[in-house]
Formats: sequence, structure tokens, C-alpha cells
Amino acid sequence: MKQMLNIALPKGRLGEKVYAMFKKAGFPCPSIEEPSRKLIFENEACGVRYFWVKPSDVAIYVERGAADIGVAGKDILLEYEPDIYELLDLDLGKCRMAVAAKAGFRDDTRRKLKVATKFTNIASQYYRDQGRDIDIIHLNGSIEIAPILGLSDVIVDIVETGTTLKENDLQVYDTIVPISARLIANKASYKFKGHQIDQILASMRQQMATTTR
Ligand code: PRP
Repeated sequence: MKQMLNIALPKGRLGEKVYAMFKKAGFPCPSIEEPSRKLIFENEACGVRYFWVKPSDVAIYVERGAADIGVAGKDILLEYEPDIYELLDLDLGKCRMAVAAKAGFRDDTRRKLKVATKFTNIASQYYRDQGRDIDIIHLNGSIEIAPILGLSDVIVDIVETGTTLKENDLQVYDTIVPISARLIANKASYKFKGHQIDQILASMRQQMATTTR
């Protein structure tokens, strides 16, 4: 029996684009293209099994070997530092991790800076590098509200178009790091299923070189 390659795709628009790249790489799966609420799809002939997972969970599936490969945002990789191989920057899902605050914000360095974020590891590292003492406030979403209500001085969050910040009267004070989607692999899988994975990697590289974005 053919060895199946398990691929975790980030559910959503990014995942659709990524599946199209896998399909072009020679790993199509017709059932995934039909409308349904199913989450797992198989094409035994091609030796591939796809599953849709929450984008922030892809790295967990890959690190623990439930998926051999997957596509995850660099934000998640920096935040959780999973023990995986990062194989390729797909140049998709581009955005940046930034520090934002209310217009006119001035940092008073005599007191701790209150930082609200979903990305506590990234934020802590950033301020540690600056030697700035902070009080970190972990939130799960709607981070933009925190400075408006006085819960925090600044936020560390993802900025894509900048619309969310603008509509909440916040502005970017610094860019911490650019973010994009990465192809990642489980370390043991890369050893034992390296042939299939390298085939995908080569095709994706080639697709990126020939596609104008
Ligand atoms: C992210 C981020 C911002 C927004 C930025 O949230 O937290 O709220 O996108 O995008 P923009 O610059 O284009 O306005 P996301 O929608 O990913 O979900 P979340 O609220 O769960 O963080």
C-alpha cells in the first residue's frame, strides 16, 4: 500500500490558495473541492490526506506528527517556537507584527509599559531586546480595544491592511517583523517521507518562480 502523506491546511482563504499549490505539485484531491463541512479528505491514488485545521493549530499537528507537513504563519512559528523544519516562505498571507498605540502616544520610560497582545512571547522578546520593562496583558482577540479603554498603553498585533487600526484611531509605532505563510514539516516525517516532501517543495519553488503576484 502506498505511504500516505498527511497535510494540515489552514482553514480559510489562505488554505484554498495553498491547496491549489499542492494540486499543481501533483497531489490533487477532488473531494476537497466539493462543497461540504467535512474536514478530512483523501486521495489514495496520489497517497495524500488533507485536513483543514484552525490556522493557529497547524504547527501543533506538524510538531506532534499528526501531520507530516502543513502551512503556518510565521507569527505562530515565532510565538510558539515549535520543533519543526521550516521549508519554504510561500510569500502568501503577508502582513506584519507591529506595535500600535493611540495617536500622540509617548512612552514614559519611568514606569512599566502596559502591552496587550495575543503574542506574549514575541512581544516579551521584542521589549527584552530593547531593555524595556513591561507589564504584559494576554488577550485572545479584539486587541485594538485595549489602549482605547486604558487597559494597556500599546498593543502588539498583526497589521495587514491597517484598516482595523485606522478605524479604531490607533497607529503603528514600530514594525517588529514581517509575516508570511511558511511550508513546515515534521522532523521525523522529513526523514521517512523526504521523497514526497521534496517533490512538493521543488514544485512550490518552481510555481513561485513562474507566478507573477
Ligand atoms: C487580525 C489582527 C487585526 C486584523 C488586522 O485579526 O488581530 O485585528 O487582523 O488586519 P487589518 O490591518 O487588515 O485591518 P484576525 O482577523 O486575524 O483575527 P483575530 O481578531 O482573531 O486576531
